[in-house]
Amino acid sequence: MEGRKASESFIIMNELVLPNDTNTFGNLMGGRLMYWMDIAASMAAARHCNFPCMTASVDNLSFKNAIKLGNVVHIEAKITRAFNTSMEIHLKVWGEDMLHQYRYESNEAYFTFVALDPTGKPRSVPPVITETEQEKQLFDGALRRRQLRLILGGKMKPDDANELKALFIKE
Ligand SMILES: CC(C)(COP(=O)(O)OP(=O)(O)OC[C@H]1O[C@@H](n2cnc3c(N)ncnc32)[C@H](O)[C@@H]1OP(=O)(O)O)[C@@H](O)C(=O)NCCC(=O)NCCS
Repeated sequence: MEGRKASESFIIMNELVLPNDTNTFGNLMGGRLMYWMDIAASMAAARHCNFPCMTASVDNLSFKNAIKLGNVVHIEAKITRAFNTSMEIHLKVWGEDMLHQYRYESNEAYFTFVALDPTGKPRSVPPVITETEQEKQLFDGALRRRQLRLILGGKMKPDDANELKALFIKE
């Protein structure tokens, strides 16, 4: 299958935080943000492979800064690497105060999507072609992150995670 550039999957999504999106502190609910991130990531995955995709896993969501009522949520999503049927999508999220014209980091995460055929079975996806230094770094790290998430998901034995082990065990 012919490769596709990582940049071709790039998605920007903006949402305005309205009262119904907030918690009792007047900040965006974490669950609502995850919902929007899932949508942005699924669009990036579908753009890469041109097939319907299903969320397989979400890694390490930690919220650095709350996003306030009336601010804009700015989400950027891009594929880092494709394996066989699965794709890792990197997301970065900012809050934007439009009145005072500044942007602050909110969070960063990796989502994994699996492409499905019309019968609902996983299907192969095109490999990723990296161009920038940042894309190459994310591509390299994706193999270790995949091994970690598959171990945590009970889908891989730690002994088989050679690239991940190499981080901790020096010969
Ligand atoms: C994700 C799903 C399609 C994987 O199907 P499966 O029968 O386990 O298929 P396989 O074991 O052949 O794995 C298929 C791919 O998914 C990946 N995968 C499976 N579980 C995973 C997990 N927990 N985290 C990351 N990737 C995972 C595998 O590594 C494999 O990728 P590869 O082909 O690139 O190597 C299936 O578990 C599913 O449908 N889950 C429900 C998803 C869902 O409902 N999402 C919406 C949110 S609730």
